Amino acid sequence: MRKQSLWGIAAVAAIALAVTGCGGSSSSSTTAGATGGASSAAAATGKVGVILPDAATSPRWEANDRPLLAAAFQAAGVGADIQNANGDKSKFGTICDGMINAGVKVLLIVNLDSDSGSACLKKAQGAGIKTIDYDRLTLGGGASYYVSFDNVAVGKLMGEGLQKCLTDMGKTSNVNYVQINGDPTDNNAALFKQGYVEALKPLDGKYKLVGDQTGKWDAKIAGTAFEQLYTQNNGKVDGVVSANDTMAGGIIARLKANKLNGKVPVTGQDASVAGLQAILSGDQCMTVYKAIKKEADAASQLAIALIQGKDASSIATGKVTDTVLKKDVPSALEIPQAIYKANVKDVITDGFWKASDICTADYAAACKAAGIQ
Ligand code: BGC
Repeated sequence: MRKQSLWGIAAVAAIALAVTGCGGSSSSSTTAGATGGASSAAAATGKVGVILPDAATSPRWEANDRPLLAAAFQAAGVGADIQNANGDKSKFGTICDGMINAGVKVLLIVNLDSDSGSACLKKAQGAGIKTIDYDRLTLGGGASYYVSFDNVAVGKLMGEGLQKCLTDMGKTSNVNYVQINGDPTDNNAALFKQGYVEALKPLDGKYKLVGDQTGKWDAKIAGTAFEQLYTQNNGKVDGVVSANDTMAGGIIARLKANKLNGKVPVTGQDASVAGLQAILSGDQCMTVYKAIKKEADAASQLAIALIQGKDASSIATGKVTDTVLKKDVPSALEIPQAIYKANVKDVITDGFWKASDICTADYAAACKAAGIQ
């Protein structure tokens, strides 16, 4: 009873914050789902805590995941407290403890690394809370389920994308390329890399990997890493596999400074506004669109199954190996899509962004040419 009423107060406070306009900030908490009267009883039967990782390595966490998760839980009638650790592992731990104390029934996390993620998951499990890894698998964490995309497939689309971009420019052999990988603390970075390495393997002999660095999901670090590799290779770099749009932005800034933007194809991931705009302007060659709505919907369905003690084998039909526990984790894995200039409109048709989000004044002509109104 006590927990229930505390939760009610927290829910009202979070809504008040949202109403007063503080709800959009990255450290804010979104409370979705049932409020007040009969519905707070419904929420108390199964509230969900969600910890997002940060607001800097990709705009997706605040711009896409937060609202889509809030909507998915709300539609399912499940109360949800969504908070962001802002890249701070100790804040992550504090949020985790707070959610456990508030009596969440299911905890979804996007870890900042496997150690701090595992510590949180284990505490939750010790308190009888069911756990779901959202987007990133926590190695050694033992979550009941994993909801994500087929991340090796995401990487494959980048490798194939680089090849398509270079081929379209008439470059099919004697190609030097570099890889700017994600943060090694993120298991996804390894899966993406596995995908692009596999996709580019058949081109051995025609393509040569001349640099392989982490950009740590950071635009500046990625830009600096690229510039160093570019200098080391005396400027003979024909293409860049960049593992997300944030890092692509940093790399493109360096290419621009050398008047090489559009001449050296760069890949990406997340279909961010900046990424799609860079594709329309020709500075970025492709991105990988992940329909986060599907990821959020699968997460809410799994959370409900866990709350109700139901079998979720029809939702989590895939599996991903936790290489630390040497165990397959039942997974719901959505399918990614490659986006080039010609199909940027697919992302808008799918409702991920509105045309007006992308087609600001500087991009109006490019939008029109790409059939986006
Ligand atoms: C996500 C990407 C994101 C990256 C940086 C990865 O785990 O899958 O979508 O760009 O983290 O936040």
